[in-house]
Amino acid sequence: MFAGRILGQSMKTFSTTNALTKYLSQLRENNYTIGLVPTMGALHKGHLSLVTKAMTENSIVVVSIFVNPTQFNNEDDLIKYPRTLEKDKLLLESLNYTDLIIYAPSATDIYNNEIKSKHYSFGGLEYEMEGAFREGHFDGVGTIVSRLLHVVNPNRAYFGEKDFQQLQIIKKLVKIEGLDVDIVGCAILREQDGLAMSSRNTRLKKEYRIAAPFIYKTLKSAKLKFGTKSAKEVTEWVQQQFENEPLLELEYFTIASTKTLKPIMRKRVNSKYRAFIAAYADDVRLIDNIALN
Ligand code: PAF
Repeated sequence: MFAGRILGQSMKTFSTTNALTKYLSQLRENNYTIGLVPTMGALHKGHLSLVTKAMTENSIVVVSIFVNPTQFNNEDDLIKYPRTLEKDKLLLESLNYTDLIIYAPSATDIYNNEIKSKHYSFGGLEYEMEGAFREGHFDGVGTIVSRLLHVVNPNRAYFGEKDFQQLQIIKKLVKIEGLDVDIVGCAILREQDGLAMSSRNTRLKKEYRIAAPFIYKTLKSAKLKFGTKSAKEVTEWVQQQFENEPLLELEYFTIASTKTLKPIMRKRVNSKYRAFIAAYADDVRLIDNIALN
């Protein structure tokens, strides 16, 4: 890892949009490239891998840390979402990269006095899977990501493939709003036992943490079965597996087109598919997905 040379000796933190935009506009005059890594904090190695990738591809990296209230459809989930700003700062400092800016605004700073989403049409992507189970979620994601992209005006913005539907929706958002930014999708980082890294994992009680890798194990088996079986057969098999796993409650398992996110009707040559899972481990909702071909 190399230490930065542009911003001085230490990482900068901004808690207001005004101060950040002033600072960035000075930097932009020098033609530095900017990478944005939007996060809701409670950073883990998955986030750090996005930051590291962004560091290698841009002069300066902005990591936003903001638990966005409008994308939560469940009040309890919003209240319990981990908030660990001081720890997050230490983790980012440990990367030993000084050309890094933390942008940690308040809800009032972002939304003024009206904490409300805009309404978006993402060409139908928003009705599938997460959209079907989390009303208003993608309006909230669209609203905050659009705001962050307008504030930071980055050359590239980085998102993990764990939220694959979110990634596709953000690519669509950028087209709809005509924004000049590359949206970079980054591979899912996993714990040694296969569990996809997520800020929500810290909320898992011990026995649920032990059970949770079952999600990825099932996705891997589904991928193997998809070689010889229909999507319907694979789906039924997955549902049965979850019925035998008392600690995890399956919300959905879907095999869908990577492009449209619509559930597969019939396998077509040249089409790309992915399998998606959402499941509850106690009151913690976990999602994961895998490329099938
Ligand atoms: O993936 C997330 O952490 C959030 O949905 C995002 C993109 C930071 C928007 O709040």
